[in-house]
Amino acid sequence: MASLIAGSGMLAVARGTSSTSVASLVAPDAARSVVSFNARPFERSGALSALKSSGFCSSSVRNSAKSGVVMASAGSNGTGAGVPGLAIDLTGKRAFIAGVADDQGYGWAIAKTLASAGAEILVGTWVPALNIFETSLRRGKFDESRQLPNGSLFEISKVYPLDAVFDCPEDVPEDIKNNKRYAGASAWTVTEVVDSVKKDFGSIDILVHSLANGPEVSKPLLETSRKGYLAASSASAYSHVSLLRHFAPIMNQGKCGSVISLTYMASEKTIPGYGGGMSSAKAALESDTRVLAFEAGRKYKIRVNTISAGPLKSRAAKAIGFIEKMIDYSKANSPLQRDLEADDIGNAATFLASPLASAISGTVFYVDNGLHTMGMALDSRALGEIQEAAAPAEKVSA
Ligand SMILES: NC(=O)c1ccc[n+]([C@@H]2O[C@H](COP(=O)([O-])OP(=O)(O)OC[C@H]3O[C@@H](n4cnc5c(N)ncnc54)[C@H](O)[C@@H]3O)[C@@H](O)[C@H]2O)c1
Repeated sequence: MASLIAGSGMLAVARGTSSTSVASLVAPDAARSVVSFNARPFERSGALSALKSSGFCSSSVRNSAKSGVVMASAGSNGTGAGVPGLAIDLTGKRAFIAGVADDQGYGWAIAKTLASAGAEILVGTWVPALNIFETSLRRGKFDESRQLPNGSLFEISKVYPLDAVFDCPEDVPEDIKNNKRYAGASAWTVTEVVDSVKKDFGSIDILVHSLANGPEVSKPLLETSRKGYLAASSASAYSHVSLLRHFAPIMNQGKCGSVISLTYMASEKTIPGYGGGMSSAKAALESDTRVLAFEAGRKYKIRVNTISAGPLKSRAAKAIGFIEKMIDYSKANSPLQRDLEADDIGNAATFLASPLASAISGTVFYVDNGLHTMGMALDSRALGEIQEAAAPAEKVSA
């Protein structure tokens, strides 16, 4: 597949495969820049060599040795004289990612992509999952998925124990205090974690909320208890408010002061099976994103966005009980019939955290191969012949 980027002064041709993430950013006149959020597929696809061999930018395409971020630039007169290109370079920025306990979920992918753009990574890990996560990290179980585009392993500067359901020690009930899954860990309520980060590092630039929990997720809303509903809301929606509220005072203001959370389409469309009040919690999270974007934007000059992600077989998603079917459904019915990778969400989050997104706040940012736009399930048996006529592209690409 070839994409043409035509402008007044030049023409750039970039080649890509269906898995290549190449975004063209069209400036008003002279310069044209090609940005890849993920250096490896960009290089593998031949896009980099195509750019180099196209001549106009042979001297100005560079691959940052540290971060693996690809940057391209070109002069308007065809000489290659350097008009700096656009790039995602988060060197010197620090991110706290809440909700990482293995290498399978969106939090890990976001942490890794932010690291590949140069950011320093701190994570908050749910206390009951802390031991196994730290042991697995130490024993090299994640080493393969720690590989960055430049071949180095991504580092987590510090893992903080966290339970985002509790704001301060006074909130913690006796049964949790005495629970053996919490034994040995300390200072894991939200305010204590923020204090520890402040003491250890001073400040952060990027906050990622990648956590959710709904104890009754497999029950229909009609059968969900008050306790289950409020627990889903507390762990999956208020935790976002709390983390933002307490981290905001130690977040650096400016172009990279950014808060990102993860939501799901069940907030706005009925997804039978995504129960226990989780759909309500995601609706609250999205509404809170808009209100917090205003409040935190005015008070702290930070941006607040949420990514509505397509289905991924993470540990949390397996609890729903039919995640494989959701993935199949998504692929069969999305405008883009491709596998959704955790890295797709990592790339989008890294863009949202970067100065390239400095005017974006309060949005629900869909990263789901376009599934949210569909009002009809093309693979429905009820459609019969209409299905054949409606999905000709599927035949071509199959
Ligand atoms: N997997 C999907 O299909 C999908 C789709 C859309 C949105 N999301 C969202 O992405 C986010 C990340 O989930 P994931 O699917 O990558 O699964 P995951 O299992 O990798 O992440 C969920 C994390 O939340 C943590 N957690 C749960 N309760 C917590 C608490 N009280 N305090 C601190 N941490 C807690 C878990 O330990 C886990 O690490 C969630 O908000 C989820 O709703 C997931």
